[in-house]
Amino acid sequence: RLVYVLNGPNLNLLGKRQPHIYGSETLADVEDACRALGKELDLEIRFHQSNREYEIIDWIHAAREQATGIVINPGAFTHTSVAILDALNTFNGTVIECHISNVHKRESFRHHSYMSLRADGVIAGFGTQGYLLSLRRVAKLADEKTG
Ligand code: DQA
Repeated sequence: RLVYVLNGPNLNLLGKRQPHIYGSETLADVEDACRALGKELDLEIRFHQSNREYEIIDWIHAAREQATGIVINPGAFTHTSVAILDALNTFNGTVIECHISNVHKRESFRHHSYMSLRADGVIAGFGTQGYLLSLRRVAKLADEKTG
């Protein structure tokens, strides 16, 4: 039960970057929390961040044929990247799109997501807890599949 947790541009600065919007936890804190919950849910977590679109695409390709799910916070690529959408469309498992902030409360350019055309579920505005809720959903759907 392998799950990729993928993070896009600027999320390496989580905790320092606009903390009034994204909170004070760092991405390392989020990774630790995901790994702890992963143990509880019997999920092996591969956690990555990149500011480069192609790296995110390469991780999605790596997830193909082996992962049960992808939790992805594509950062600003959410609103721009047909290439990441195309990559997600090659993946057969569960895809959860996760945003720390409530994108719908923010600038109108954040209201549209290419990722949502593929995502099985979308979470926004739950802070970093959204990652944990996303993992719970991936685990639940994997449980349902195996019976
Ligand atoms: C984000 C929301 C995006 O609009 C923004 O570009 C980000 C982070 C979020 O987690 O709330 O980088 O995906």
